[in-house]
Amino acid sequence: MGELAEGALRIEVLGPQHDRASFESGVEPLDRYFRVQAGQDARKNMAAPFVLVLADGFVAGYYTLSSTAVNVGEWPAQIVRKLPRYPLIPATLLGRLAVDRRQEGRGYGRYLLADALFRAVSSEIASFAVIVDAKDENARRFYERESFLPFPDRPMKLFQPMADIADLFKSYAVER
Ligand SMILES: CC(C)(COP(=O)(O)OP(=O)(O)OC[C@H]1O[C@@H](n2cnc3c(N)ncnc32)[C@H](O)[C@@H]1OP(=O)(O)O)[C@@H](O)C(=O)NCCC(=O)NCCS
Repeated sequence: MGELAEGALRIEVLGPQHDRASFESGVEPLDRYFRVQAGQDARKNMAAPFVLVLADGFVAGYYTLSSTAVNVGEWPAQIVRKLPRYPLIPATLLGRLAVDRRQEGRGYGRYLLADALFRAVSSEIASFAVIVDAKDENARRFYERESFLPFPDRPMKLFQPMADIADLFKSYAVER
């Protein structure tokens, strides 16, 4: 955690200078996506990949953000009740997030997630929530610990309302 405190980490837009070949989260589809697809997704405006770079240049993790929309019928009734009656609710998709397995347990996953949420809440483009599709039970637990809530009929798809994310960063700014 020392590096987190000392500010020796950088989160950067994925570029050709980043070594993607040696990245290894242990989840094959996430590794393959990062090696093969992430650059193309960025070029074609399908997703924005960001990487966590350690002081020595090692890529310790990545995440992607893109726009999405979720059918109004998928949201919990108590949330929809308070919204205008649009068929689609705009949201921000945290499509993928992974930490290199040699670097797990050091707070980097949480740091990447916080950066993604901050980027999402800082956008001027309206978005009701940040959405994630958890790949497995581990991922679901990770997101639930970070205050994500499951969609009623899709326990592996989770959301965090943008209003809550804004509150999170507001109280963080006050604490500092
Ligand atoms: C899940 C993942 C991103 C966590 O990254 P990490 O850097 O190890 O996590 P952190 O060190 O930031 O831990 C943050 C918190 O989540 C908890 N956590 C970490 N991995 C967890 C898991 N698999 N299940 C439940 N909780 C987990 C930690 O205990 C910590 O909580 P604490 O501080 O209260 O103890 C990482 O293990 C990973 O990349 N896994 C493979 C890919 C994946 O599942 N991605 C997620 C969704 S697609």
